[in-house]
Amino acid sequence: MKIGTIASHSALNIMAGAKAEGIETILVSTPDRVEFYDSYGLGSSIIEVSSWDEVLDLQLEDTIWIPHGSFVAYIGAERIINSDLRMYGNRQLLKWEEDRELKMKLLSESGLKIPREFQSVEEIDSPVMVKTYGAAGGEGYFIAKNKQEVLQKAPSDKKFSIQEYVVGTKVFVTYFNSYAMNRLEVFGADIRYETDADANLRFDDTPSFVVVGNLPLVLRESILLKYYELGKKFVNGFKSLAGQNIPGSFCIETIIDKNLNIIAFEFSGRIVAGTNVWIPSSPYSYLQFNEPMWMGRRIARELKQLEEMGRLEESLL
Ligand SMILES: Nc1ncnc2c1ncn2[C@@H]1O[C@H](COP(=O)(O)OP(=O)(O)O)[C@@H](O)[C@H]1O
Ligand SMILES: [Mg+2]
Repeated sequence: MKIGTIASHSALNIMAGAKAEGIETILVSTPDRVEFYDSYGLGSSIIEVSSWDEVLDLQLEDTIWIPHGSFVAYIGAERIINSDLRMYGNRQLLKWEEDRELKMKLLSESGLKIPREFQSVEEIDSPVMVKTYGAAGGEGYFIAKNKQEVLQKAPSDKKFSIQEYVVGTKVFVTYFNSYAMNRLEVFGADIRYETDADANLRFDDTPSFVVVGNLPLVLRESILLKYYELGKKFVNGFKSLAGQNIPGSFCIETIIDKNLNIIAFEFSGRIVAGTNVWIPSSPYSYLQFNEPMWMGRRIARELKQLEEMGRLEESLL
């Protein structure tokens, strides 16, 4: 078995994890990134390609691919789903993540609180966040304090959804769902530092929510427990809606308000870059393993155990 991914996002995390578990690595890279990744000792793992699409044609049968955010962004969820690459996790979930309606449906039918959604401008009775369809990285979103401001700012030619602007602390929690150990692990939490929303949010601006980095966050233990339950609900929710499992890593994006309500506005059905703050370990994974355990290593450990148990296939969805 080899573990492979493409050279971006959390590739260093994933590659180091595989190596720590004694698994061979494949890193698909464009020529401009080779020198950088080589500086982390990954030179012998690199397969050079002139365009990312070529990953779909690589005939490497003993390789298990780990899809990350850039993997999905560069290749596209649809093509990943239709490819015959062997991949860890549930790739159908990538489609639920991409589609705004499916995304909110999964969150709410799993029993998570979500921001109120206004069906028309007329209904607006609080500050809102307006999200245009197809926007990424918060680009093309705007905030408005009332109905009038939405009417002024809304593009007439684009489809958008209008959500209550939830005031509170943004908390991004990553889970690891282990089939080998038969347990859900709350792996770690982070805050995404977003420019320029986190720098100087003003309602007369159209601030950008582009992520520039991540800060580690250790939650109050009573809140951590709530997130454990939330993660369980999410996994069970997908089981009843789609009839499928979620093996491995996923992340739920939330805001905690002043009454300690946890409101979920998005999720990622794969490793997130927020886990890069937990190299070599998160406090929680350390408590579970008594040794350094970062997400890339957690994935490799799981794959190794599943292989030994002869149960690898059920986690390659
Ligand atoms: N309902 C909301 N209330 C307040 N802030 C929000 C809300 N929804 C999103 N945000 C903010 O906007 C950012 C981007 O929104 P998100 O839905 O995660 O879009 P993207 O797909 O671009 O990540 C979030 O990280 C958060 O800071
Ligand atoms: Mg987001």
